[in-house]
Amino acid sequence: MRIVVTGGSGDLGGRVVRELVARGHEAVPASRRSGVDLSTGAGLDAALDGTDAVVHAATSQTKPQDVDVAGARRIGESLRRLGSPAHVVSISIVGSDRIPYPYYRAKVDSEKALEDAGVPATVLRATQFHSLAAFFGTAGRIGPISMTLGDMRIQPVDIDWVASRLVDLAVGQAPDGYRRATDIAGPTAYGMSELSTLLAEHDGRRPPRLVRLPAVGKVMRGFAEGHILPGPEVETGGMTFEDWLATQPVPMPRRFHSPT
Ligand SMILES: NC(=O)c1ccc[n+]([C@@H]2O[C@H](COP(=O)([O-])OP(=O)(O)OC[C@H]3O[C@@H](n4cnc5c(N)ncnc54)[C@H](OP(=O)(O)O)[C@@H]3O)[C@@H](O)[C@H]2O)c1
Repeated sequence: MRIVVTGGSGDLGGRVVRELVARGHEAVPASRRSGVDLSTGAGLDAALDGTDAVVHAATSQTKPQDVDVAGARRIGESLRRLGSPAHVVSISIVGSDRIPYPYYRAKVDSEKALEDAGVPATVLRATQFHSLAAFFGTAGRIGPISMTLGDMRIQPVDIDWVASRLVDLAVGQAPDGYRRATDIAGPTAYGMSELSTLLAEHDGRRPPRLVRLPAVGKVMRGFAEGHILPGPEVETGGMTFEDWLATQPVPMPRRFHSPT
């Protein structure tokens, strides 16, 4: 199959491209680097012409309404213009509808844009990738203390497994209209104190003393009160945070994207 991957130069999209190629498909990365700008639609018709499916993994942390949301709408418009039956598979975030954080709102708007697009579409919501959990666990560290929000817990997921599930959906049977796939998450939920201890052990440091900050406002309370955790209807899989951490450099870099 020929499958266009928006954000194919990104962390998740790059893994989707590699997984598609490994399974013998033709993967076409589509992002500004390859002449496709989802915030304007430039290059989109040419990229989508003749495709069997699209994985929408492009995102912008600063302009998600332009890339994630308008991008989803433009993909639908382009496929309709081309008369293409291609199936669009898009990635979203578990709990994005329960926390009024602007980026999460955009993920929900992106889902709605696909629901309204009039093309076969599947949205897969995943929990935070292990690299983001590591960032949460290291960003609040100052010397021997580590700050966290209330009793925040997180159930992070292996990004390679997410990429593989997106590929399963893209090469599988397309729905008649719009559908939400079963949410996915990693096998284990962790409190921030467990995460901080695992990260300290990885770096060969003493575990930091956890300082719980009060969660102020709906966004912070959403994170602190477990709204990013999956519900009972979840598919779990992929490597654990511990196994992922063992593949990471020592010390663990204090930045968002992982090098692997
Ligand atoms: N990180 C997490 O924990 C997590 C959890 C669940 C779901 N997700 C979702 O996973 C998806 C991928 O995240 P990621 O971390 O892999 O992102 P990323 O590494 O930041 O990649 C973003 C991609 O979007 C492309 N892009 C940005 N602006 C664009 C534009 N105007 N037009 C076309 N392409 C554009 C970038 O390529 P160019 O620069 O070449 O344009 C890049 O390939 C996102 O939808 C995110 O919400 C993430």
